[in-house]
Amino acid sequence: MSISPLGRSNLTHKRPANFSKFWFGCMYYPEHWDESILQNDPIRMKEAGFNVVRIAEFAWTLMEPQEGKYDFSLFDKAIKSLGREGISTILCTPTATPPRWLTIKHPEILRVNSDGIPMGHGSRQHCCHSSQIFRQYSKVITKAMADHFADNPYVAGWQTDNEFHCHFSECHCESCQSGFRKFLKAKYGDIDKLNQAWGSIFWSQTYGSFDEVITPRPGNPTYPNPAHQLDYFRYLSHAVTMFQHDQIEILRKSQPKWFVIHNGLFSHIDYRGLFTQDLDVLGFDSYPQFCYDSSYRRFSHAFNLDRARAWSGNFIIPEQQSGPGGQQNYFHDNPEPDEMRRMTYTSIARGADSLLYFRWRTCRFGAEEYWCGIFDHDNVPRRRYKETQQIGAELSRIGPEILGTSIRVDVAVATGDLDNNDAHQTQYFGLPAPDNIAETIHRHCFEKGLAVGCVHPSDDLSDLRLYVIPHWVIINPEWLPNLKQFVENGGMLVIGARTGTRDLNNNVIAETPPGVLQELCGITVEEYSRCNDLNNRPIHIKTGAGEIPIQHWYEVLQPASAMTVAEWRGRYLDGMPAITSNKIGKGQVIYVGTYLTDSVIENILPVWIAESGLKPLWVDTPSGVEVVVREKDGKELWFFINHNDAKVSLKTSPKGIDLITGIATGGSLTLDHNGVAVISAS
Ligand code: GAL
Ligand code: ZN
Repeated sequence: MSISPLGRSNLTHKRPANFSKFWFGCMYYPEHWDESILQNDPIRMKEAGFNVVRIAEFAWTLMEPQEGKYDFSLFDKAIKSLGREGISTILCTPTATPPRWLTIKHPEILRVNSDGIPMGHGSRQHCCHSSQIFRQYSKVITKAMADHFADNPYVAGWQTDNEFHCHFSECHCESCQSGFRKFLKAKYGDIDKLNQAWGSIFWSQTYGSFDEVITPRPGNPTYPNPAHQLDYFRYLSHAVTMFQHDQIEILRKSQPKWFVIHNGLFSHIDYRGLFTQDLDVLGFDSYPQFCYDSSYRRFSHAFNLDRARAWSGNFIIPEQQSGPGGQQNYFHDNPEPDEMRRMTYTSIARGADSLLYFRWRTCRFGAEEYWCGIFDHDNVPRRRYKETQQIGAELSRIGPEILGTSIRVDVAVATGDLDNNDAHQTQYFGLPAPDNIAETIHRHCFEKGLAVGCVHPSDDLSDLRLYVIPHWVIINPEWLPNLKQFVENGGMLVIGARTGTRDLNNNVIAETPPGVLQELCGITVEEYSRCNDLNNRPIHIKTGAGEIPIQHWYEVLQPASAMTVAEWRGRYLDGMPAITSNKIGKGQVIYVGTYLTDSVIENILPVWIAESGLKPLWVDTPSGVEVVVREKDGKELWFFINHNDAKVSLKTSPKGIDLITGIATGGSLTLDHNGVAVISAS
């Protein structure tokens, strides 16, 4: 697959987006409204400070009402009237909602679930990316749009499809059967190699040729082969990458100056791979109110943003919540006054180099008739619109300062790996997923005011002092030199239980755990077990400061070059090593023989912070205030965001100018409930 010239391959958490301006706007659906309602929209958007809208992602049926008959007039008109008010457009390819004429003509393009049932028409994402027929239709509509809009001066870029793999990612249709076989043939060449790699001798799964292989279906009748499953998940990522690539090739050819984005992030897509290298910038749709616990929401919001950045660097938020939202079985909290603004600044602080709200006006019909936008159904401007105007005015000043900066990270937790996310699902034993544990660690660091982020082990670790790989069963040996260098240069690397216990095929390693990490960790794992009976068989870690209850899992460690820093307490483990430290160069590798749960992290993190010399970003920060620094060549932008219900004051603040108020800073700083300061430090 060729990588287009605009696609950039250097995916790192430090990468700023290459946008020419900070795009600020919303999703817009002119196809849902009469002219009488639409006419005020451009001026109202301009007054909100918008410079962009995103349109057309579900409008295939409107643009191609019959096969080969196109009508773009509604969008031509909308784009022009918005453009005249200084608002550009991001066009979407509409392939998330193929039209009815297509599914009638070609029912074989419908996805098939793991029970063998084909999806029907009537919602969205019903067609399969590996279907050659669907791919052909996707290319045709993409080309028709690209040709039609190529010279439109008001268009700024494209979005491919909408949220690939949202709702539905595992398809078992006939096209997937043949696509999977082709993928495996290209990967293994020889069926014996596949049999070897999958251990297919187990339960007589041995295949005589690639044509005999089928997609793995859980519960059909019982547990599938984990190696078979992981290759299938990789195949799904490959199929959607190729589907997207078809579109990108057409889009780049017709108008090379426009950017191409996609809005993720969902399962079974490798966003550190070709999928993202093909794009200019990856998008992340941010809906913080999916977390119903309002006191926890700031942690999940921050983690999700940092996790998004781990894949490929700063991102665009093509959709951010601007109202309450609901579908059939749920309804979100309405953002309270100033909450939408506060969420916007958290998103920008943690990596958004552009941001659009979902959506302009709440639709009166369809499955999302209660997914509220800035305007309610009645189109009356209310507080959410006024708040948007305020944000727009502020961002017209702050936006240009943001572009080109990266987010400072001193401590990071590993995220952003398709193999590890997916391998966990194949043998999870009821254990938390690596990203769940990453979120716990992230939260504790966040609460302590540290510059916390998420970084992949193959990425640039040079600025980190502490780096935690929670429970990644697959450690690619290619990452080892990077990890070793990080430690030799003085970094503290923490490895959680079960890390490195599976190979790249997703089989169990032949060596004693932690396998390829043995040398770095300076230990072997001699025994391991699930902890299923915490009430009757409590197991604790005994540290100098007392005992820490553990959950889920324990391992009996045998130090080689490492020294024991904490022992087990309980059962036959009493006195055996539970946590070890291995000094290498100027740094050390800590191995923790259990899950990095709340109680473990709460008790041990302070030790790691002290030993690695980590300091909070700003010492004088009251609890509940989020601090983030964006920086570039010595220039610093400090974000202070108050998540407390009450007003708070910092005794001191960085010397500079608050870009929101224009007031000089350096002395005390007061932040209202939901208040924000963005200080350009001097
Ligand atoms: C997003 C999706 C939008 C809309 C929104 C609210 O995930 O891209 O099309 O569905 O959620 O549910
Ligand atoms: Zn399929």
